Amino acid sequence: MAKITYIDSEGTSRIIEGETGSTVMETAIKNNVPGIEAECGGACACATCHVYVDEGWQEVVGQPSPMEEDMLDFGYDVRPNSRLSCQIKVTDELDGLVVRTPERQA
Ligand code: FES
Repeated sequence: MAKITYIDSEGTSRIIEGETGSTVMETAIKNNVPGIEAECGGACACATCHVYVDEGWQEVVGQPSPMEEDMLDFGYDVRPNSRLSCQIKVTDELDGLVVRTPERQA
């Protein structure tokens, strides 16, 4: 389990327990976190699960795969700390992770 903080574009935080083995996207959808749409259901084929990884967490979370990078090109307001949340697996290591959702999805 890992506690994940989702902060929306208006600054509202929601702290959710993510199950190990699920993804940051699945945790958000299951708990009705606004700002993540996940139209493709986690297949890395829509870019509507885009989040910004908090700067202190970028190293732990890691870099996107080449396939994810390609998909991120379709995201809205993509930044150096952008990731697709369906591609971030929840691990115990991610306990305390902070992600922000963009103003809107693509
Ligand atoms: S849910 Fe579609 S790319 Fe993540």
